[in-house]
Amino acid sequence: MNKLVLVTGGTGYIGSHTVVELMNEGFDVVIIDNLSNSEKSVLNGIAEITGRRAYFEQFDICDKERLDNFFKVYKKLDAIIHFAAYKAVGESVEKPLMYYQNNLVSLMNLLNGMIEYDVPYIVFSSSCTVYGEPDELPVTEQAPIKLANSPYGNTKQISEEIIKDIISVNPNLKAIALRYFNPIGAHPSALIGELPIGVPNNLVPFITQTAIGIREELKVFGDDYNTSDGSAIRDYINVVDLAKAHVVSVKRMLEDKCKSNFEFFNLGTGKGSSVLEIVNAFEKAAGEKLKYKIVGRRAGDVESVYADTKFANEELGWKAEISLEETLLSAWNWEKYIQNKK
Ligand code: NAD
Ligand code: UFG
Repeated sequence: MNKLVLVTGGTGYIGSHTVVELMNEGFDVVIIDNLSNSEKSVLNGIAEITGRRAYFEQFDICDKERLDNFFKVYKKLDAIIHFAAYKAVGESVEKPLMYYQNNLVSLMNLLNGMIEYDVPYIVFSSSCTVYGEPDELPVTEQAPIKLANSPYGNTKQISEEIIKDIISVNPNLKAIALRYFNPIGAHPSALIGELPIGVPNNLVPFITQTAIGIREELKVFGDDYNTSDGSAIRDYINVVDLAKAHVVSVKRMLEDKCKSNFEFFNLGTGKGSSVLEIVNAFEKAAGEKLKYKIVGRRAGDVESVYADTKFANEELGWKAEISLEETLLSAWNWEKYIQNKK
């Protein structure tokens, strides 16, 4: 019988790509999503790619009673991948309570369910924001956790602490926190991808929307950083590569290969790219000229952050493989697909 994985936030950006990779590897998947930041039609994209449908339950994980009923119905869950959370850094500064409420209560309800209903394994979506402005580059998993510079970042730090404390008194539970660097791109089929609501905050959706004519021009936030071209550096990782690391993590737990009950891994490519390098790479990959102008720095941005991937590469036996050009082209194809559909 296939193993059954609960994917919370499974109709979202990273969740949907992970559901596809899980199903491609023979797992059965049940998604819980309240559709606060995604659309039900994503399920059709997943089905078209995999030839199978994931089970889908639409509700808010913060609703403990509803979640408990879910655990009673889905009695044999083998593992959980927990994506469901709010994720907009700027919004979290404006609405901190909404972020603490959603991101922490949902996690605590799930952990409670794992204990009560004997689900042993959880993979948690963390972020490189936990490292803040790192002292040394590339960043290893041993780098100190810095004071969070937004309530969103703080929810990721607190979530990791909560998981650590719960695991330490429940030896049957195991967790893996995956600290993502900057996920970008879309599935090569262009049937699923990122669906930003309103004006995108993130660089790549803003680039593709500018190239297709929805936005007038890209604003490059700062050219006075201490980097080769003055713009800020990030580690951009293809979302399908990222999704595959979740499947590897679930298998690692199922096959009892974890070295401790709570493990952390950086998920990046190990290569930093500046904003202007991304603009150039996009122009080359898409064959489109991009209108942009340099403006001042964005508040809260760090100068440079990219991953030391040695630990994830060696321990997980996983490596990001898809090139930046191919990734940017996938983002461009996805943008054209969604605009055509409108
Ligand atoms: P997303 O918004 O596309 O997906 C999250 C999904 O969770 C959405 O479909 C939303 O409807 C759902 N959701 C939110 N709260 C819920 C709740 N209480 N109950 C049920 N469903 C709920 O986001 P994403 O980019 O796919 O991110 C997934 C996870 O990865 C998040 O935890 C995010 O913080 C983390 N992360 C994302 C990035 C990034 O750049 N995208 C980087 C680091 C970490
Ligand atoms: N940028 C621009 N113009 C834009 C948008 C972004 O110049 O219109 C720049 C930013 O200043 C930054 C870089 O592009 O230097 C990347 O910015 P993003 O907003 O795409 O990504 P961040 O690194 O700020 O943060 C993202 C997610 C966080 C997550 C973090 C680490 O938004 O939720 O990656 O995973 F925590």
